[in-house]
Amino acid sequence: MAANGNEKQGTKAFYVTTPIYYVNDAPHLGHAYTTVAGDVLTRWHRQRGEKVWYLTGTDEHGQKIMRTADANGVSPQEWCDKLVTEAWKPLWEHLEIANDDFIRTTEKRHTDRVQEFVQDLWDKGEIYKGGYEGPYCVGCEEYKLPGELLDGEGDFAGEKLCPVHKKPVEILKEENYFFKLSEYAQRLLDFYEANPGFIQPESARNEVLNFVRQGLTDLSISRSTFDWGVKVPWDDKHVIYVWVDALLNYATAAGYGADQARFDATFPADVHLVGKDILRFHAVIWPAMLMAQGLPLPGRVVANGWLLVGGEKMSKSNLTGIKPQDLTSHFGVDAYRWYFLRAISFGQDGSFSWEDFSARYTSELANDYGNLASRVAAMVNKYFGGELPAATASGEAEKAVQEGLAKAVATADRAIGEELDFQSGILAIFDFVKQVNGYITEQEPWKVAKDDSEEGRARLATILYTAAESLRAMAVLLNPVMPDTSQKLWDSLGAEPHLGPLAAQRIDETADWGRLPAGATVTKGAVLFPRLEEKPTA
Ligand code: MSP
Repeated sequence: MAANGNEKQGTKAFYVTTPIYYVNDAPHLGHAYTTVAGDVLTRWHRQRGEKVWYLTGTDEHGQKIMRTADANGVSPQEWCDKLVTEAWKPLWEHLEIANDDFIRTTEKRHTDRVQEFVQDLWDKGEIYKGGYEGPYCVGCEEYKLPGELLDGEGDFAGEKLCPVHKKPVEILKEENYFFKLSEYAQRLLDFYEANPGFIQPESARNEVLNFVRQGLTDLSISRSTFDWGVKVPWDDKHVIYVWVDALLNYATAAGYGADQARFDATFPADVHLVGKDILRFHAVIWPAMLMAQGLPLPGRVVANGWLLVGGEKMSKSNLTGIKPQDLTSHFGVDAYRWYFLRAISFGQDGSFSWEDFSARYTSELANDYGNLASRVAAMVNKYFGGELPAATASGEAEKAVQEGLAKAVATADRAIGEELDFQSGILAIFDFVKQVNGYITEQEPWKVAKDDSEEGRARLATILYTAAESLRAMAVLLNPVMPDTSQKLWDSLGAEPHLGPLAAQRIDETADWGRLPAGATVTKGAVLFPRLEEKPTA
């Protein structure tokens, strides 16, 4: 799955997480968006030769899950087991997500450690017992501040609504346990200042700074009106607040309290990928919890925008009815992985449309990239019997292609590997695809092929070598985004016997010109991006 035998040993892993998803329902396009992004990021870093650890999982406690299970007439555990095995894990496999672990918050390896963590905070005096009354949104599993609520209209006239779910909040009054979050406001602000890249993008950072500057209230960390959760160790009438339980997955899955060596080699996360709706939990509460325990803080919290439906965040209640599988069966898994990262700038909101996806698929994947691969393979076969010729007559045009590649590698590595700007990275690679198409159009190898002279043959060989070597680089650079088609291309170039497995190819060596040796056996492989069928009507 993940390891490629290419890692630098002895260093801390580059550790990336997705949110752990609520299993009240099956995954939708929005969940897949964050998970695919994490997969592309981690595959990219593996191809940088880094040791990588990619974690995803499911958030299974709390009132939201309990109510869904009740409504379906099964126990919460049965409900979670069913959804995890029938919906969540199969989707991640289908989308070729190469996660190194999958944590479920109902697992003992998690719940035991959560209890220990909270017990420690209690022993240290970080937690006290108190009362609280306030508006609560079960959709968010969060107490809301009165100022952020919306006034209901129509069916909800006279009620106060959650700004995310647009549904009435419930007024909860409870005696429960509180974490002294208010005491961490200044330490958090100091930390944000000392680590300006901690919250990304800039808009997300500003939102959090403004929020924390207003001062923090203590956080209710237990609930006593229902019991679907991890019991508070010193008072089993309470369960631990689902968000405290959930955030700790990032530590428990990494071996916290169980395997110190693995924990040291993994924790803290370098990148927590989150939707912008759950930014405060990750950028405020989570670091405060870690500070309270004296644990190291994460490298970055990166908030992605929302996939929208009719201008609203895509969610269970407003789904288009389009499942990830509906799109993959039409466009293929690789095109699906590519599309959302290509079409939407990562921190921004974006909408899905069949028309846009179809248009980009046809022009960028099928015409620009897929056709290039098949034309080059066909010509190497037609003119050189499938044996890649050597480039003996390179000139300015070939130099320009090499320079284009070097630029694409540098831009994509910075954008995808460092800035999580997947769109710019993918565009840089596709600029190179366009450049190579332009090179072939200008060089007209089909005309050069008519020239039987020695110079003519040498030019033809050089053009086709240059194109094939460019394709070698494209397969490497696009492998994190589209592993399946990249492998097909790798096979068609006959690269593996000479260069080894595709996943072991290093990004930083991709621009070294001439890696694919003359003599490689080029075959006309499968069509990378077949022509689209009619759009399904259902
Ligand atoms: N269980 C919590 C997270 C706990 S993490 C310690 C939760 N789960 S969730 O299933 O409701 O959503 C989690 C994440 O799914 C979002 O933050 C986001 O990353 C992703 N998305 C859900 N809907 C989305 C869109 N419409 N668009 C983009 N991402 C979306 O919150």
